Amino acid sequence: MEIREQWRSRWGFILAAAGSAVGLGNLWGFAYRASQGGGAAFLLLYILIVLVVCLPVLVAEMVLGRSTGNSALLAPVKAAGDRWGILGWLFVIAPLGIGSYYAVLMGWTLDTFFHSLFFGLPADMSAAKTFFGSISSGSSVLLGQLVSLLLTAAVVASGIRKGIERISRIGLPILFGLLLILAIWAATLSGTWEGYRTFLLKVDVSQFFNPSTIRNAFTQAFFSLSLGIGIMVTYASYLDRRNQLPKEALSVASLDTAVGLLAGMITFPIVMSFGLKEVISGSTVGTLFISIPTGLGTLGVTGRVVAVLFFALAYIAAITSSISLLEVPVSSLMDRLGLPRSKAVFISTSLLFVLGIPSAMNLNILGKMDSVFGGVLLILGGFLLSIFLGWVVPRKFDEDLAGCNSDQRVRRYLKFMLRWVSPPVIAFGLIVSVIDLVQNWSS
Ligand code: PHE
Repeated sequence: MEIREQWRSRWGFILAAAGSAVGLGNLWGFAYRASQGGGAAFLLLYILIVLVVCLPVLVAEMVLGRSTGNSALLAPVKAAGDRWGILGWLFVIAPLGIGSYYAVLMGWTLDTFFHSLFFGLPADMSAAKTFFGSISSGSSVLLGQLVSLLLTAAVVASGIRKGIERISRIGLPILFGLLLILAIWAATLSGTWEGYRTFLLKVDVSQFFNPSTIRNAFTQAFFSLSLGIGIMVTYASYLDRRNQLPKEALSVASLDTAVGLLAGMITFPIVMSFGLKEVISGSTVGTLFISIPTGLGTLGVTGRVVAVLFFALAYIAAITSSISLLEVPVSSLMDRLGLPRSKAVFISTSLLFVLGIPSAMNLNILGKMDSVFGGVLLILGGFLLSIFLGWVVPRKFDEDLAGCNSDQRVRRYLKFMLRWVSPPVIAFGLIVSVIDLVQNWSS
């Protein structure tokens, strides 16, 4: 067995965890969920869920990883015995499910990037639809998916410090820089205020009770934070006692939410300035790949430069997330079967490629995979985690956080939330989401 690696520094861990959180979910997911009509109600619910229920679960997930020092597959068993083995399996199956179609989305992103760079942007709506058709079907999808998986595998094969930590340290600052530049640029567009207002500021009270809006908000919160499916267990298992997890969790959640909002401040002005509102609500998973190139296509060279920067940014964000998705099965294979990292990477990557083929071939399947693996399973995982650390092994939570000298009041607050608030609220979100999913399954 190889010796278990550790992060080089506290910031290395925070950037890697934030790198996992910040991804296509903040750009693609946020754009398509926000465009489904929830408006500011969606946004407020999403932020509220992050602050009130997700933060304690994020700390709990990190505690589980650090206190057991084990991969996601084995951590629940190590903490509470064989009966909880099923939770470990959920932690491995969900990242494999998400990772499979995530690589397809990365392929689309890469394709759009190269298209903007070398060929230019679609000139009108029908050209945009043809363009989206070309990036989302045929053999180029498989190629994009394969290239993305190979890049991801190369990083993960290099290990925690030399691979994951290094790319996060380089990628995240670049990503933030690009994001700020683009948000400032977007603020100068003609439809900026209209965009902010329609998608981010207009509160329609009835939307708070709309099951689809509630599902979107829960899904966005969990998906965007990479929460509930063992990613944070895995990353925290490479930590030592010096880190005060509540602070780390707060940094990760703040960075992620800030990126989500900034991304919205880029996409929505573009959508409004170029009259694309109807288009995006009709194209769900394709929203980002249709609206952004079309809007920018009307701006000549400036539009092209912005598109190149935007899709480069999206790809950087995506790769720091896909490495976290791959690291879960890799570390589980290493711990469970004692495989060397390289072999575990090879097996997991091949599996992801094969599992992703149906999504690469069919948009509808991709959407369904996202609803199940990127939606309800994460919420279910979050629910189980809050029960697990709040009620089954609460002493682990106390001992681990006491051991790193975190503030006692913060600890008490988190424990209270984890036991009494997160479980019922997440259970409610889960039930609403499952019902909404079933009702909309065939649409
Ligand atoms: N959080 C990532 C994003 O926003 C996606 C992801 C979800 C990664 C779940 C890992 C686990 O794109």
